[in-house]
Amino acid sequence: MGISKSVAEQMGRSSWIRRMFEEGAKLKAERGAENVFDYTLGNPDVEPPAPVLEALQNVVTKARPLSHGYMPNGGYPIVREVIAAKLSRETGVPFTKEDIIMTVGSAGACNVILKSILDPGDEVIVLMPCFSEYQFYVTNHGGKLVSVETDDQFLPDIALIEAAITPRTRAIILNTPNNPSGRIYPENLLRDLNSLLARFDQSIFVISDEPYKSLVYDGNQQPEVAALIAPTVICNSWSKSQGLAGERIGYLALSPRLPDLEDLRRACTFTNRILGFINAPAIWQWVMLESADAIVDVAAYQEKRDVLCDALEKIGYELVRPEGSFYVFPKTPIADDIAFVRMLAAEGVLAVPGAGFGRAGHIRLSLTIPLDTIKRSIDGFARAFAACASASAAKQ
Ligand SMILES: Cc1ncc(COP(=O)(O)O)c(C=O)c1O
Repeated sequence: MGISKSVAEQMGRSSWIRRMFEEGAKLKAERGAENVFDYTLGNPDVEPPAPVLEALQNVVTKARPLSHGYMPNGGYPIVREVIAAKLSRETGVPFTKEDIIMTVGSAGACNVILKSILDPGDEVIVLMPCFSEYQFYVTNHGGKLVSVETDDQFLPDIALIEAAITPRTRAIILNTPNNPSGRIYPENLLRDLNSLLARFDQSIFVISDEPYKSLVYDGNQQPEVAALIAPTVICNSWSKSQGLAGERIGYLALSPRLPDLEDLRRACTFTNRILGFINAPAIWQWVMLESADAIVDVAAYQEKRDVLCDALEKIGYELVRPEGSFYVFPKTPIADDIAFVRMLAAEGVLAVPGAGFGRAGHIRLSLTIPLDTIKRSIDGFARAFAACASASAAKQ
């Protein structure tokens, strides 16, 4: 008895971060952990904000009667009401508690909506480079991922999206602020996408995966996708914004402007159940009743972004400075990003090749490591860059 061919094949494709993790463990054993600079995982390295920890304590000490049992599959109505009010305030779109389904993170929300809308062979457009798990989420539910490139600044190209739409297109996944590029998609682009979708008779959902929405720098703001695009389904969580990635708490929000809304609400509640989530964690729903608006210290990420980007640019790396999320996605000085990742690893710097996100010739660096570690890693970036420059000079 073995594992399925399809899972074996998918595991083969998903192995980049795991490979780098194994590489990191080996390097740490050889050189000592303090000499390895691990930029691979997007796991927040900050404590949750104080109001969240206080709310958690309140929830535990209050000990509401029977507050650890099953509940409606969509979550506690009182919590969904708070999320609906928050979204209505932020977007100007009148969400009600019936439009909100509490989920196991944003990943859970993405799977719930895809399961609810896809029939085998239906197509989902994904903009490259992207969060690498999307390919698996789409395949989980029998869908076919259709990749559409963004431009060299990582912004969507509406004409390319239009060209990719077929009668089988059911959804487009948007992720802004973006993992891995850090770009925020501007309002005019979102408006253009809305106008494009309005021209089609078939209904095409925009799945707006927004876990980085509040992690924005330099006073930027993420334009509200649900305000600008009528058929929006929001997937969001507190994994990144409150440093709660391990607690698995998020939500799905169905725009009240979606067609067949009541069917969708019922379908998503059902799929949340049958995917085995049943419901989102009870304790964390109660916590969010009190602290849904809290945000980690974004200035700390911005400082790390500035230190790393300034240093990389000084060395000669080309990059688009991230406006949000907590990733930097520089170009590699040689076209082969996998070879360059190996050169960096020889310097103790662990990065993920851009190929893992659908854009070779880049590396993804996660800002979720301490500032001091970032500073100590810079010499390694410089040596790897210099090695490429001298190899190319030798060739000429
Ligand atoms: C773009 C994107 N979507 C979803 C997720 C999953 O988030 P969650 O922990 O909320 O499930 C991640 C995590 O890295 C992500 O980068």
